[in-house]
Amino acid sequence: MPKIPHDITDSLVQLGRPEKVQGRHVNLPIELGSTIIFDTLAGFEAARDARYTTGTLYYGRYGNQAGFQLEAMLSELEGADGVTLTSSGVAAISTTLIAFCVPGAHLLVADHVYGNTRAFCDNVLTRLGVEIEYFDPMIGVGLSDRMRETTCAVMFEAPGSGTFEVPDIPAIAKVARDGGVPSIIDSTWATPVFCRPLALGVDVVVASMSKYLSGHSDCMMGMVASTAEYVEPIRKTVMAIGDKTGAQEVFLTLRGLRTLKMRMHHFDQAGREMARWLSGQPQVKSVLHPAFDSCPGHVFWKRDFTGAAGLFGVLFHPSSDDQIRAFVDSLQHFGIGASWGGYESLVLPVKPQRTATAWDIQCQLVRFNIGLEDLGRLKADLAAALPLLNTASE
Ligand SMILES: Cc1ncc(COP(=O)(O)O)c(C=O)c1O
Repeated sequence: MPKIPHDITDSLVQLGRPEKVQGRHVNLPIELGSTIIFDTLAGFEAARDARYTTGTLYYGRYGNQAGFQLEAMLSELEGADGVTLTSSGVAAISTTLIAFCVPGAHLLVADHVYGNTRAFCDNVLTRLGVEIEYFDPMIGVGLSDRMRETTCAVMFEAPGSGTFEVPDIPAIAKVARDGGVPSIIDSTWATPVFCRPLALGVDVVVASMSKYLSGHSDCMMGMVASTAEYVEPIRKTVMAIGDKTGAQEVFLTLRGLRTLKMRMHHFDQAGREMARWLSGQPQVKSVLHPAFDSCPGHVFWKRDFTGAAGLFGVLFHPSSDDQIRAFVDSLQHFGIGASWGGYESLVLPVKPQRTATAWDIQCQLVRFNIGLEDLGRLKADLAAALPLLNTASE
């Protein structure tokens, strides 16, 4: 399938702003409010009847002007028929899955999904009578053998959280569509700058906007973008659950999005350079970075993506947990913390959870998020800490 050429440069600058800027601020204000008042009862009733349609001002929980602008902007970026905002990436995932699951349903989930996606499936959906089946993310068209009469959706990521395998997106999307169920992809890593899954045949894209889309580690938000068929069921579920995005978060995400493309291009270059440098160190067995051919699914990344984010994994030759702790603790320019996609570099050891596929537990996996810092300084920091780890010969 050919790459879909698209240029979102102008969209990032122009969308989600007041149409005429003469005599107004460039950006929309932070819009606070719960009750929205109407001049007539008929006006109120018309708004109530249309409350699941983006752009309808009805009551604070259903959105406001700035939120609608952000939804329209994200629809354009993702090539979606509709977008619903959520209070976090996890809320985007959980509300979407709830929208498609019923008691007795069978949900197919890739074995490499984000830990909280797995936790939601195992701890909440199973309690509601949903059967979860994990599958090898590299299964491709082989997924058709796992489809059942009761299958309600297919959930996966590209690349996988922590382990970075890149699945065959169009193949998985097609199996789901042929089986009459939606495919749902968590596309937080790529952002619409580097991949537009809906153009590859996926039905629903979920993303944490707490990462690259807002981009400054100062807010939590999520979004669900989909084809027309799924816009209303997802929106109704989000509204029924009462999930609500904050006005300040909407403002910060609209602001962060303006620089998304240039930030992603910086992270692409900086991430590749750091991964290349790390792959040459004697303590490193291999890098798990979709742009490197050592990464499973690299060919799919080359076919379906136009760049790589600054988050990747490094497999170190076997060292003890204490050595890994000492290595991480001694880094001066990498913060230790959850999340990623901000302007700061981060480091975190990862223990992948696998139930359908095997994982090499001999090697130590560490995840790096490369930020906007000077690369020479980051390399010097790592070079000072790496001797704490074993090399291949030790
Ligand atoms: C791939 C992926 N999806 C979703 C999330 C959840 O997003 P949030 O932290 O906004 O709830 C994360 C968070 O780390 C993530 O890594």
